[in-house]
Amino acid sequence: MKIVKKIKDLRSHISGMEGNTGFVPTMGYLHDGHSDLIRTSIRDNDNTIVSIFVNPEQFCEGEDLDRYPMDMERDIDILNTLGVNVLFLPDKMEIYPSGYKTFVTVREMDEVLCGRSRPGHFTGVATIVLKLINIIEPHYVYFGKKDAQQLIILKQMISDLNISSEVKSVDIRRDLDGLALSSRNSYLSEKGRKSALVISESLKYAEYLINEKRITDAGIIKKNIADLILKIGDVEIDYIEIVSLRNLEDLDKINLNSTLIAIAAYIEGVRLIDNIIFGEI
Ligand code: PAJ
Repeated sequence: MKIVKKIKDLRSHISGMEGNTGFVPTMGYLHDGHSDLIRTSIRDNDNTIVSIFVNPEQFCEGEDLDRYPMDMERDIDILNTLGVNVLFLPDKMEIYPSGYKTFVTVREMDEVLCGRSRPGHFTGVATIVLKLINIIEPHYVYFGKKDAQQLIILKQMISDLNISSEVKSVDIRRDLDGLALSSRNSYLSEKGRKSALVISESLKYAEYLINEKRITDAGIIKKNIADLILKIGDVEIDYIEIVSLRNLEDLDKINLNSTLIAIAAYIEGVRLIDNIIFGEI
């Protein structure tokens, strides 16, 4: 695997590559969720480029930018084993040189769900992803459904700005006990990790109520999820939302073809998110 730190070197390497290119942006500390995206790209493309960049612009004040987990040696081993062609590993000055001024905002969609408690977060995400896509110009770019709002916002940006890269979405990877994999799970104690299971369990229960009990009222589903979560004392709910997959607007009734049920919660001060999706993104 070639490791490239400079945009100029990456561009000149890419100009010599033949065939289709898939791109998987990440912030590193790779787990099997990231690997699923990377494997999908390797399966579908002649070349796969992965980036690792802990993007400061998407962290809000008081968030975990300074202690975001990192293990570059391990990440490089994983990427080599998977068969990635290029790792793009820029430093902060390469991406945001002094005098940097331009940011991209996907309006309204960035103010709901995670946007409410993380103001500016999705502007940071949209900006870095647009920059990386402009640098790499991949045929396909891969995102996980774990971050469903991010995926929907980035699809909107790519469509609005006439970007020719096509978005591919990949299913949520979970541990055997159901917990959605996340680099941030490493912050949890064993007890916290156990408590965190209620998030995926409550989503499973919601799925059961919808698919088997035919409940379509969003308010009833939200209340059932909240009741389950609140039984576990050390989980603080940030939000439980039921929204349209198309525009992230609130839904009163579950639409089996276009609904996102999303949860964010704090456990031991760690913010975790999870969701279930009805329909295709
Ligand atoms: P990061 O959290 O490292 O995630 C990189 C990609 O992996 C994202 O598309 C995310 O949705 C996906 N992913 C993470 N956990 C997953 C899981 N359990 N199952 C499936 N996919 C999973 O998301 C980011 O980085 C950043 O915001 C980024 C897009 C790189 C911009 O900085």
